[in-house]
Amino acid sequence: MDKRAPDNRSIGVFDSGMGGLTAVRRLHALMPKENIIYFGDTSRVPYGTRGRDTIVKYARQDVAFLRQFDLKAIVIACNTATAVCAESLRAELSMPVVGIEPAVLPGARTTRTGIIGVMATTKTLASAKYRHLKSIAPKEVRIIDCPCPGLMDCVEAGEFRTPHTMALLREYVEPLVEAGADTLVLGCTHYPFLSDAIRLTAGPGIRLIDPAPAVARQLKRRLDEPGLLNDTKKAPARIFCTTDANEARERILRLLWTDNAVLQKLDGSVRP
Ligand code: DGL
Repeated sequence: MDKRAPDNRSIGVFDSGMGGLTAVRRLHALMPKENIIYFGDTSRVPYGTRGRDTIVKYARQDVAFLRQFDLKAIVIACNTATAVCAESLRAELSMPVVGIEPAVLPGARTTRTGIIGVMATTKTLASAKYRHLKSIAPKEVRIIDCPCPGLMDCVEAGEFRTPHTMALLREYVEPLVEAGADTLVLGCTHYPFLSDAIRLTAGPGIRLIDPAPAVARQLKRRLDEPGLLNDTKKAPARIFCTTDANEARERILRLLWTDNAVLQKLDGSVRP
């Protein structure tokens, strides 16, 4: 492929809420020079319990919002939106669109007990894309689906280890461990923020798989092949936007990102 000139435009990243910041962390670690614009549709989170048409509509609006910036690629940092509409977004956009999906295959390849648990939203687990992933996993591995309603709300509220969060985790994680799972696939971008609490609940020896590092590597490949990585000497931009920017939201952003992060205030005309 011909190498084009380096491209200093931004990477747009979206999620239903703040969970996609787990993907931004990995993008930032692997491609520190890239400009990143993050958009969390926090006033309409969760997506995981909504109907297909609604998720498609919201995802299109999220992309339209991000495209007000000058973008060279989009990351769908939401397993639910990826499962429902990554293909249609790819067909509509003339730039790399990288999605995120539960790491069923890496989990199935490395389990020692032959049993893995997949923690994700109800919508992701019910999707055709997820069914397909399971159908190509090694047949001898038992894959236990674990919908986790309420867990992403804990992250949105900054409740990483409160009694409520720990009680929910016991409800979801303990049956997986009791069934013999040694590997838990984190199939929602919010859940890696609960990794410590999940480990605490599951006990020693559990392996957690977050697909975000693979997503960052994939995007890097897609940009690097045609020579589109950013070569600027300037400090990279990190812009964070949410549909309901307020003090509480900014407090969570600072907990999840850095303590000097700032949320952009959006006026009604630019909000999805
Ligand atoms: N973070 C989203 C995902 O990865 C889901 C949270 C939601 O239900 O909106 O699936």
